[in-house]
Amino acid sequence: MPEITPKPAHVAVIMDGNGRWANSQGLSRVAGHKRGVEAVKRLIKGCLRHEIPYLTIFAFSSENWNRPESEVNALMELLMGALENQTAKLDENGVRLRLIGDLNRFDGRIQKLADQAMQATENNSKLTLNVAINYGGRWDITQASKRIAEKVSAGEIRVQDIDEKTLANELTTSGQPDPDLFIRTSGEYRISNFMLWQAAYSEFYFTDLLWPDFDEAAFTDALLKFTSRDRRFGTAVDQIQHVDAEEKKEADNNA
Ligand code: IPE
Ligand code: IPE
Ligand code: MG
Repeated sequence: MPEITPKPAHVAVIMDGNGRWANSQGLSRVAGHKRGVEAVKRLIKGCLRHEIPYLTIFAFSSENWNRPESEVNALMELLMGALENQTAKLDENGVRLRLIGDLNRFDGRIQKLADQAMQATENNSKLTLNVAINYGGRWDITQASKRIAEKVSAGEIRVQDIDEKTLANELTTSGQPDPDLFIRTSGEYRISNFMLWQAAYSEFYFTDLLWPDFDEAAFTDALLKFTSRDRRFGTAVDQIQHVDAEEKKEADNNA
């Protein structure tokens, strides 16, 4: 396993292309989503192996309700199945599961399973896995704004004290680092309303691979590409310290 330095603290993934993968195999879209679940399991293992502490996956967007009812129902079944069958395994592996998104739109059974899974795993600390369902970046910012407005009307905070931190603290990812690495599969170059606020300084990695084909090697490639990026956060290029591999070796030897 290649050493990844620097390591992203948080990886966000738009898992796209299940439908196209299924079409290419002459299978139903639902079969593509099922294969997609296997790719999710591999990704979680990869994060655990690389000791990446936060992973957010986009499983169902606010806009995905516009798909045919049969596909939406199949996705709900898959989600429930995963919550029922995978929570214990996640727990054993030290994964803290968070479902992020507007859960009110889901039926009671899913909401109950989601609550149980989050409670059962809340004290785990190896990996926080955010599964975004009925999630939209605009929704996230809107719900955060509403909560702040409520606090202002209740007299708990003053308008002049609102800053970026106030907003970040009300987002569904409150208390977590922003995604360092943002991956999208399937050859699309858009963010489809995912983590709009949090991705302000993410490094983007796009691949033509369809989500069910995203394997360990693909994840390693994304991580290695990440390590080679210069993250400037608005500073001038000359301000970045470049440490050449030889220089580093020398420094290590002298240490
Ligand atoms: C991503 O795959 C999974 C979900 C959006 C639930 P798609 O279903 O969007 O696959 P394509 O884009 O049609 O190939
Ligand atoms: C984004 O994929 C949502 C998920 C992966 C859950 P979509 O397939 O829904 O996005 P668009 O429609 O291509 O932008
Ligand atoms: Mg798609």
